[in-house]
Amino acid sequence: MIVLIGFMGAGKTTVGRLLAEHLLMPFIDSDEVIERTEGLAVREIFATRGEAEFRRIEAATVTRLLAGPDVVLALGGGALTTPEVRAALGAHQVVLLDVAFEEALERVAADPGRPMLHKPDLSGLYDRRQDDYREAARVAVPVSGRSPRTVVEDVLAALGLDGVGE
Ligand code: S3P
Repeated sequence: MIVLIGFMGAGKTTVGRLLAEHLLMPFIDSDEVIERTEGLAVREIFATRGEAEFRRIEAATVTRLLAGPDVVLALGGGALTTPEVRAALGAHQVVLLDVAFEEALERVAADPGRPMLHKPDLSGLYDRRQDDYREAARVAVPVSGRSPRTVVEDVLAALGLDGVGE
């Protein structure tokens, strides 16, 4: 299992899709699975049930997916907030897509689907998440100012998978 982690706007979904296509593996985005199973957009889950309930659903979804068949899996930027998720990541190839705060904001600032953007002290949230990201990741790939294709090449190289699927 290849698991992509990183802050909102790091490109986990875009890079994950390309990576999966290249490796001929299925791609799964944990937020999409949550939206499908709950029948609600992430934004609506936050609005009607609150963040704590979203985290509970997210942790259950992610631990189930991590125990399932091999896929490229993109996690929501806050999934590692839950200790259960951090513990379940241990056995997998976890890749941090490392985005600078300013660039992350530029990429997602106008997106109404990301409720965490309205939190006070977003840069503090970004800073506080970095230790968890770095502890969980086997490799970190810088993404700021770089195209998804280039990032995919770097991920493949970092995992020793360059040449696979060519
Ligand atoms: C969140 C990130 C989102 C989504 C939810 C909460 C966060 O995923 O899971 O809005 O806490 O950072 P992306 O990282 O794909 O935007």
